[in-house]
Amino acid sequence: MLHKSLKAFPDEFLWGASTSAYQVEGAALSHGKGPSVQDVKEPPAGTSGFEVAADQYHRFKEDVALMAEMGFKTYRFSISWARLLPEGTGRVNEEGVQYYDDLIDECLKYDIQPLVTMYHFDLPAALDEQGGWGNRATADAFVEFSHLMFSCYGDRVKYWLTINEQNMMTLAAEHVLGLDFSKLENPNKYVYEMNHNMLLAQAKAMVLCHEMLPGAKIGPAPNIALVYPDSNKPEDILAAQNMNALRNWLYLDMAVYGIYNHVVWSWLEEQDALPTNIEPGDLAIMKAAKPDFIAFNYYSTATAAMPSAEDETESGDQQSGSTVLGFAKGVANPNLPRTQFGWEIDPVGFRNTLREVYSRYHLPIIITENGLGAYDKLEQDESGNDVVHDPYRIDYLRAHIEQMRLAISDGVEMMGYCPWSAVDLISTHEGFVKRYGFIFVNREEFDLLDLRRVRKDSFFWYKKVIASKGTDLA
Ligand code: BG6
Repeated sequence: MLHKSLKAFPDEFLWGASTSAYQVEGAALSHGKGPSVQDVKEPPAGTSGFEVAADQYHRFKEDVALMAEMGFKTYRFSISWARLLPEGTGRVNEEGVQYYDDLIDECLKYDIQPLVTMYHFDLPAALDEQGGWGNRATADAFVEFSHLMFSCYGDRVKYWLTINEQNMMTLAAEHVLGLDFSKLENPNKYVYEMNHNMLLAQAKAMVLCHEMLPGAKIGPAPNIALVYPDSNKPEDILAAQNMNALRNWLYLDMAVYGIYNHVVWSWLEEQDALPTNIEPGDLAIMKAAKPDFIAFNYYSTATAAMPSAEDETESGDQQSGSTVLGFAKGVANPNLPRTQFGWEIDPVGFRNTLREVYSRYHLPIIITENGLGAYDKLEQDESGNDVVHDPYRIDYLRAHIEQMRLAISDGVEMMGYCPWSAVDLISTHEGFVKRYGFIFVNREEFDLLDLRRVRKDSFFWYKKVIASKGTDLA
């Protein structure tokens, strides 16, 4: 559908960008911080650990000043659970509390609203040793951590995100949470029991937020990718519906309506994998918890076909979800170009996804991740100044912002856009050389060099986009 005239981005639209604590901060095992699951696991071959990352712990003032220079209205960062509570519960690390106090104040100094992710893949290792999300006590620990964050920062932080990409932690539990499926009798049952504990933790945190901070807004932050059918065969449509339910709607149906998605529920039942850890009262809490908005990360769409009997069951990758016999399998979409790292690029799918999410839930939407990872190169211009030419990133972001504006013109209520990432940081499993930032960080995978910050071409471009309220995308 074309629009004769496009609606504008709202005046109060939250333009910004995102990072997460373990990927950007460094100081991973110092300044009183306890280890998280990310610190204790072996980094994938050829990639560095998280000890230094982009060193934002020591350079946040410089980073926030650069964000202010781009005109950010918000900065999405996460609070490291193990920095505040080194053992996951109990003892508080005051130095950690002070760090986020200072970071928040630094943002507010420039009128940048902190958008805080409460948990982004970095469970304290101490909690993991006690069973991690498989242990219901972890949900209580999350409530304790939430209470601490709301008490310390609720006077200044208006926007909260509960859990980053819970759906990816569940769908790719072997990868993201490091679960060894070979040791589990019924992996799906175990994984969806963990998932239940996380959903419960999220619901309790939303209720607590509204009790403690009546002026604050809170929402979930899954990774949402609309799933297309591979063909117009009715079976493929069914497969796409199944994958959409498993990958997307399970999480948002629960966050918004407090109900378990029926397609996923019957699929779990079929495999004797229904969570048996649901206690009386859990569903009432989940129904009582109401998000104020939906945040989601979008990188691309996914495509599904109905698997044949010959298809083998295999666990999914980050973007496409799992292949499940008789249910759905993720397949490549030949119509889409790919990034240097093989990720499909689908800006129109962004509009499709926004429309679908809004139609189902009718809540304002903020995009908390969207972006392109690439091998950027630092060069010097004729005058010897540092430059980084990243036209591919500008093209990617431009196309997505255009589609977001079309979605707004379709009637979708949008409240903000935070691409991944504000600053170069360590990718989840492909190292520092897979860069996403507007701000280049001068280090290599293993050689830390001087970690100096350099404005990429996309930095100047995004500054113009924000200054023009999304109208100048040239
Ligand atoms: C999202 C995560 O899945 O994608 C981020 O929330 C992550 O933590 C981002 O960095 C990009 O993925 P990757 O694997 O390229 O780092």
